[in-house]
Amino acid sequence: MSNRMWGGRFASGPAEIMEEINASIGFDKRLAPQDIRGSLAHVAMLGQAGILPADDVTAIEAGLKAVAAEIEEGRFAFRRELEDIHMAVESRLTEIVGPAAGRLHTARSRNDQVATDMKLWVRDTLEGLDAQAAGLQKALAQKALAHAATVMPGFTHLQSAQPVTFGHHCLAYVEMLARDRGRFQDARRRLNECPLGAAALAGTSFPIDRHATAAALGFDRPTANSLDSVADRDFALESLSAAAICAVHLSRFAEELVVWTSAQFDFVRLSDGYTTGSSIMPQKRNPDAAELVRAKSGRVIGALTGLLIVMKGLPLAYSKDMQEDKEGTFDALQALSLCLAAMTGMVRDLEPNAEVLARAAGSGYATATDLADWLVRELGLPFREAHHVTGRLVGVAAARGVGLEALSLADLQEAEPRIGEAVYAVLGVENSVASRTSHGGTAPDNVRAQATRWLAALDAPAA
Ligand code: ARG
Repeated sequence: MSNRMWGGRFASGPAEIMEEINASIGFDKRLAPQDIRGSLAHVAMLGQAGILPADDVTAIEAGLKAVAAEIEEGRFAFRRELEDIHMAVESRLTEIVGPAAGRLHTARSRNDQVATDMKLWVRDTLEGLDAQAAGLQKALAQKALAHAATVMPGFTHLQSAQPVTFGHHCLAYVEMLARDRGRFQDARRRLNECPLGAAALAGTSFPIDRHATAAALGFDRPTANSLDSVADRDFALESLSAAAICAVHLSRFAEELVVWTSAQFDFVRLSDGYTTGSSIMPQKRNPDAAELVRAKSGRVIGALTGLLIVMKGLPLAYSKDMQEDKEGTFDALQALSLCLAAMTGMVRDLEPNAEVLARAAGSGYATATDLADWLVRELGLPFREAHHVTGRLVGVAAARGVGLEALSLADLQEAEPRIGEAVYAVLGVENSVASRTSHGGTAPDNVRAQATRWLAALDAPAA
């Protein structure tokens, strides 16, 4: 049998494999709510513009709501021979309301319909991701406030560099998430033009009101060019790209959690709720959630890359290739949502191991820079010379296997005779972090102020 929706000129139906490669119903059924919303806006506009008689509009509206209810309640049969969600809804609508249903597709095409549905889905999803990212920021800012003065080693090259505070480290991620949220909001703002009414590619001869449908669906305005309207998937690419950057941020933090929870580091403890045991090694507490957050960034990056490649050779306007935008976009944005949720839970529950962190912060000559700075500040040494003197003292201490603070004044004076007792004040880790008061520095007072500022901003209603 030929296709009921477009089979007028076909004598027979598609080959089995044709149907299989062509059908998107298996994954685009999740666009059902968006599809029905779009159809309701479209049919109301057709009525207002005098294109459809009022009784047809009423019948179609009631029918669409009945279809929506069937889908919501799981009573809807998604059949592959109907290809996609657009035809599945229309076909069921025809069964419910009869021939009037055939008028719904006036002045519209599946090309503008699918672009509209996808934009609605991506828009809702971006709003959800933004809210979730805000929730994670809040959890991090709370940890930062609680641990504004908890010292830990700061790393470069994963080598102990200078002491920082745990709160400062948390706030670094709060900043990254702020930029991620800015990208989500920006993508949402840019996508918010309505393609509906562009029809197949050229617009329509019916006197439709695209401003009305755009407004009814919460868009800022209709898109300006009908070809672009049906050929554009920038909104998905841009959202995936924002999502990929966010996923990479989460992955970096996840990697830190994996390293930090190892017995060798023992910097933090994840809660039972966010760790798993081993079926063979009873001592294990594995950071599986963090590992999966780290791994899932691969899907998000993959979806972005995949869709870029799908789009790169497509001539205007619509090509069926574009149907391949869906699975990757759905999967990636959902994966990111799950990662944000898991990360928020881990952060809320995690406890830094303050003693281990303090010990680690003081090891590896992490306050060597403080000594060099002191030599510059107090004795007027040029920084390069101070660096050299400090290096020699680190060498002496390392040869004896002790910290800088364990060197006697005589030891210190051997390297630089003008060094006095006062130098010991900067050799401690606490003194080191407290002195980092420059804007954006790790001093506990700074961290407290930044965390407080963030918590207030996150609680304030959106402007
Ligand atoms: N299922 C299609 C998609 O997702 C809908 C648009 C089909 N348009 C067409 N001309 N065949 O892209």
